[in-house]
Amino acid sequence: MIEFEDLVIKDEGDAREYNVEQIRDKIIWGDALRVLKKIPDETFDLVFVDPPYFLQLPNKKLVRWSGTIVDGVNDEWDKFRSFEEYDNFTRSWLKEVKRVMKPKATVWVIGTYHNIHRVGKIMQDMGFWILNDVIWIKTNPVPNFLGVRFTNATETLIWATKDKKVKGYTFNKEYAKEFGIGKVGANIWVLPICGGKERLRDKSGKKVHSTQKPLELLKRVILTTTKEGDMILDPMAGTGTTGVAAKALKRHYVMIEINETYVKAMVERLITPIRLTTSNFSYSYQKRIQQYLKLNEVK
Ligand SMILES: C[S@@+](CC[C@H](N)C(=O)[O-])C[C@H]1O[C@@H](n2cnc3c(N)ncnc32)[C@H](O)[C@@H]1O
Repeated sequence: MIEFEDLVIKDEGDAREYNVEQIRDKIIWGDALRVLKKIPDETFDLVFVDPPYFLQLPNKKLVRWSGTIVDGVNDEWDKFRSFEEYDNFTRSWLKEVKRVMKPKATVWVIGTYHNIHRVGKIMQDMGFWILNDVIWIKTNPVPNFLGVRFTNATETLIWATKDKKVKGYTFNKEYAKEFGIGKVGANIWVLPICGGKERLRDKSGKKVHSTQKPLELLKRVILTTTKEGDMILDPMAGTGTTGVAAKALKRHYVMIEINETYVKAMVERLITPIRLTTSNFSYSYQKRIQQYLKLNEVK
């Protein structure tokens, strides 16, 4: 039976350097800014980063007009004192991510309107070359608050190389066509936020993590931009969605996470094998998506 110690390396002390064999298919429990510095140059074929959003929610209960409570992200890991502090944090991890990417590797960063434009600007300033952004449309977004803004139903994924000169990166266009909307496989993915059995909950029924991403999202990232056997890094792994999808799709992973509760949750997920189909959702699911997009209403 696989144990916690088989999967987790606790990052301690300053002197240690990691070699690739030691960290392959492992969770490193520690601060990504310290851990990344100990990983050799050019280790990964793909990096997926789902960083803090810096949502800046007020420190009080948010109640909708309907009387229901807004289930927002108000975790300590999402708090920064200022945009400057957030930007410095972003620059620090992007610098290390760039270094540990293989020459033909690509990187994905996901975020909302709160942070993704800052992250995108910093990436361009640092020489990353943006290949695409992919818009994730959520079929079941968090309902609107007071009705004073549009319902926020999207997240943006930036997909980039280290720099403009990179050629020969992995792009599996058949999957891009299958997952993207429309005949051309446009850069729009329509899928629900993580829920049901997939959503990790503690004994009292509370979500283990406020921003657990759906496996379907990571499946799409991995199938479109990696090959079997590739090494994938997620330096802020949360509940380990990236590693779980990577394992099911026969890729290798390294995940870094600072929070002990999330590390424990990842281990639980990784020791329970799952299967992921490489195809798109079922027919009935596709129909629901079409209805969501109101495509059926065009006469
Ligand atoms: C948006 S969540 C990632 C959620 C993840 N994609 C999932 O599916 O569960 C960001 C994560 O980054 C972690 N984090 C924040 N700062 C970190 C740091 N310096 N080093 C490692 N992890 C960090 C947080 O604890 C949090 O779990």
